[in-house]
Amino acid sequence: MSRPVRIAPSVLPVDFSRLGEECQTLEKAGVDLIHWDVMDGVFVPNLTFGPDVIGSIRPLVDLEFEAHLMVVEPDRIIDRYVAAGCSTVLVHAEACDHLHRTLGHIAELGATPGVALNPHTPASVIRHVRDLLGVVLVMTVNPGFGGQAYIPLEDKVTEVAAMLEDYDCSVEVDGGIGPSTVADVVSAGADRLVSGSALFRDPEGLEHAVSDLRARAEAAQA
Ligand code: DX5
Ligand code: ZN
Repeated sequence: MSRPVRIAPSVLPVDFSRLGEECQTLEKAGVDLIHWDVMDGVFVPNLTFGPDVIGSIRPLVDLEFEAHLMVVEPDRIIDRYVAAGCSTVLVHAEACDHLHRTLGHIAELGATPGVALNPHTPASVIRHVRDLLGVVLVMTVNPGFGGQAYIPLEDKVTEVAAMLEDYDCSVEVDGGIGPSTVADVVSAGADRLVSGSALFRDPEGLEHAVSDLRARAEAAQA
């Protein structure tokens, strides 16, 4: 039985001078949660949202927040992103010396633990932490920027989905997800879709982009 499709817009493409309004517009457009791409300038060559920025937006929308921590040593800051209102925290396996402990820490804080896998990282990395996970994020671009070309990793999505068959865990994809790629990743087993630039470049507007992406995903699940 497929999990219901959930759409998680990355807010990297929005007008940061109107971040709050843009998140409210996303909520009105029918997205399911907000995907915050947190970057520290070390793990990836870019710098984005601190916890105080996310905390300032928290009261403006009712949507769930997930923090995609593209940071080194995430243990140092996980608490602050949970306190800022992120109910899911995704750490990169590549940034964790003690992934099992880090995921347990996220759960102790009452948030849903997630792990993100860079394109080169094998699915086998999750084998011994599956019982701790609520989300596995398969990166379909190299992290750091929005608007990059999709890297076809359907085989890895399928492998992750198969490994999670007996676990209560979403399979999420992130990077280059839009009308031309969504059917492939959902057919491969993804149910949680991060989309950034594709949502904002739809000539028929954001609401159409969200409903069209959802329709294409649900058709691929059928
Ligand atoms: C990249 C981020 C992605 C990215 C998605 O490091 O993790 O969330 O912003 O943007 P698009 O959909 O434009 O690839
Ligand atoms: Zn992301």
